[in-house]
Amino acid sequence: MENFTYTIPTTIYFGKGQVKQIGDIVSQYGKRVLLVYGGGSIKRNGIYDDVTAIFKENGITYFELAGVEPNPRITTVRKGVEICRKENIEVVLPIGGGSTIDCAKVIAAATSYSGDAWDIVLDPSKVVSVLPIVSILTLAATGSEMDTFAVISDMDSNDKIGTSHEDMRPKASILDPTYTFSVPAYQTAAGTADIMSHIMECYFSNVQGYMQDRMAEGLLKTCIEFGVKAIAKPDDYEARANLMWASSWAINNFIKLGKAVEWSVHPMEHQLSAYYDITHGVGLAILTPHWMEHVLNDNTVEKFKEFGVNVWDLSKDEDAYTIAHQAIQKTREYFVAMGIPTTLREVGIVDDRYFDVMAEKACAGLEAAFVPLTKEDVKAIYQKAL
Ligand code: NZQ
Ligand code: ZN
Repeated sequence: MENFTYTIPTTIYFGKGQVKQIGDIVSQYGKRVLLVYGGGSIKRNGIYDDVTAIFKENGITYFELAGVEPNPRITTVRKGVEICRKENIEVVLPIGGGSTIDCAKVIAAATSYSGDAWDIVLDPSKVVSVLPIVSILTLAATGSEMDTFAVISDMDSNDKIGTSHEDMRPKASILDPTYTFSVPAYQTAAGTADIMSHIMECYFSNVQGYMQDRMAEGLLKTCIEFGVKAIAKPDDYEARANLMWASSWAINNFIKLGKAVEWSVHPMEHQLSAYYDITHGVGLAILTPHWMEHVLNDNTVEKFKEFGVNVWDLSKDEDAYTIAHQAIQKTREYFVAMGIPTTLREVGIVDDRYFDVMAEKACAGLEAAFVPLTKEDVKAIYQKAL
């Protein structure tokens, strides 16, 4: 295991009704808030009314940035930055899924930066200071509620770029599983696939961490147990609660630190979203089994055997390749059981016209991955997924 420093200064308020704390939490940082949200789900399910009523009771003044897109755009970030500067915002409060929280993070980081917000996406070392961020999560998926990352798109240049800064980690996040009861089946499936992918990106690595990998297996089993349950019964509290907590722990560094980790499937998926604006978790689920088959070889087969035995409960008495192939098939079948398509065609990517440029962009950094991937490898994986 490698050396590391571990800290997560995000206070989590987990469970039913925790929103009642929002007035006190926000007041620790200021009384002028930018409320950031998406296309309106928070108005339909009542969260908006809950939060704004508490703000009024607590003398908190709020301004709004609505309409954050899934795969949030830099243009929307810029609008938020303008409001923060004009209204002297003291706290940024996203209510939503990863897109809304990511957008809020870059708004919070770009407000004090004299240049354009996109500079910070490209180079987070330019961050001067970050306004305090308090998030209310409504979709279990990205883990943005407890991590340092934000992923922003510029659809004019077909760029979808991940950025990260320690101060972009929310100061506090409210995780009320009942807020996810209204998440549609497709987004629940995509979110669960995203959580699973975050875990697998860390699990399949070359420096082993025995403890980290056993925790990762537990988190994967949690997703497998509750993803289909939440889809079958959207108000299953235990299912929603387990998925929500797993989403945070998949990506808050707990299962990653101490291991050499360089993600493989995410860089490939981000290009699909950048060129075709598809749902992140669905893209990951389509690519993952093909990536697994592509990287299965004599050096990796034992890791896939471990995955098959410990995650999918396969018998350890078969030969390693048989177990590995069965584990990959089980993974594919689970995504199908949640209703996720298995081909790129089904999500509107009908030909390979951008595969060359997408593979070129995706492979930067993949030379250090679990199995190093070249541009040709990435193209081959896209072709198989088509
Ligand atoms: O916009 P609204 O109306 O709120 O609807 C959203 C949106 O249409 C809806 N939704 C969210 N909560 C709901 C709900 N609908 C009903 N009831 C609720 N309670 O779900 C749709 C998708 O929302 P979005 O925020 O886009 O989903 P997700 O949380 O999966 O975020 C995806 C984005 O996060 C990035 C992805 O690339 C993508 O841009 N990622 C962020 C990461 C991070 N910050 O660490 C890491 C991830 O790997 C990922 O790349
Ligand atoms: Zn992801």
